[in-house]
Amino acid sequence: METNEKIRNIKEELDKELEGVEKQQELVEVKAKYLGKKGLVTELTANMKDLSIEEKKELGQLVNLLKNEVTEMINQKQQDLQNKELERRLKEEEIDISLPSRKIKKGSRHPFQRIIEDVEDFFVSMGYDVVDGPELETDENCFRRLNVPLGHPARDSQDTFYIDDEYLLRTQTSSVQARTMQANTEKTPIRMICPGKVYRRDDDATHSHQFGQVEGLVVDKDISLADLKGTLEMFAKKMLGENTKVRFRPSFFPFTEPSVEVDVTCFKCGGKGCPLCKQTGWIELLGAGMVHPNVLRMGGYDPEKWTGFAFGTGLDRLAMFRYAIPDIRYLYTNDIRFLEQFSRKDEENEVK
Ligand code: DAH
Repeated sequence: METNEKIRNIKEELDKELEGVEKQQELVEVKAKYLGKKGLVTELTANMKDLSIEEKKELGQLVNLLKNEVTEMINQKQQDLQNKELERRLKEEEIDISLPSRKIKKGSRHPFQRIIEDVEDFFVSMGYDVVDGPELETDENCFRRLNVPLGHPARDSQDTFYIDDEYLLRTQTSSVQARTMQANTEKTPIRMICPGKVYRRDDDATHSHQFGQVEGLVVDKDISLADLKGTLEMFAKKMLGENTKVRFRPSFFPFTEPSVEVDVTCFKCGGKGCPLCKQTGWIELLGAGMVHPNVLRMGGYDPEKWTGFAFGTGLDRLAMFRYAIPDIRYLYTNDIRFLEQFSRKDEENEVK
């Protein structure tokens, strides 16, 4: 066959073949078939060595021309495939700009956080400082300076996570009482609260191994039990509603003398008696008392001159009472269905 005819055939064949190509991979194969080392175009020069110089030149030119044309055709096809792919994707990913936008979900303050802020607001309005203390504490601050020496039976009621002989995860925010007295080198009056996390080896529906407490400490001249009573009465009404009544029962804590436990009228039945308050009408809310002389002394305050009161309560307990939460673990597992209720019921749910 004459070279020109062969060339024409090759182009026609390629043209037909390209028409059927739909994928990049197929195009790669076609390219190899024509332009590869043993491709149809290259093959044209197979018997080049038998030709005269003149013929070689002529064939060379024809083949080069063909190569350019074939390359051009394949490139063109390549471009077509890319355009098609682009079109497909644009269509597939088309954005309907007339659709209404998605609503952005509004978050809400966690009930625990809300309780802390309300407790702080109340006490700050009464002139208290809000102070902080470390969760990793010394045995000295958590127990010894609070009149709980090593071996004291009161330690049993607070099953402690010890780190080593001296360090522990604080079991009570009372540790901040010891810190605050020590840190006040001028020995001026103290009015402070300390909200924070505490840890105990407990875990069930009403106890968590980690929970929140708020501690309060007042040290001044002539502080009496009446001051403590008035303060806690106002606090209970503020947190649980104006109709809340408060009852003081004698109790024991090593760091206070006398010690009291403070009950509030059941928020559910208003004091009539119901399953929640075990028909008593009362629910225990706080531990409190007059600061023990030993604790004042260890804090550098002369108990002959200074008196004070202290109290401590569970923040989780307050949150559970206030929002009628049946299981303490809801406060920690951050289930969105639980938390969402607090954005909707934000205002109406709170006792004012
Ligand atoms: N720290 C006590 C507890 O965790 C609570 C408490 C009782 C704190 C009496 C006080 C207090 O400040 O005076 O059970």
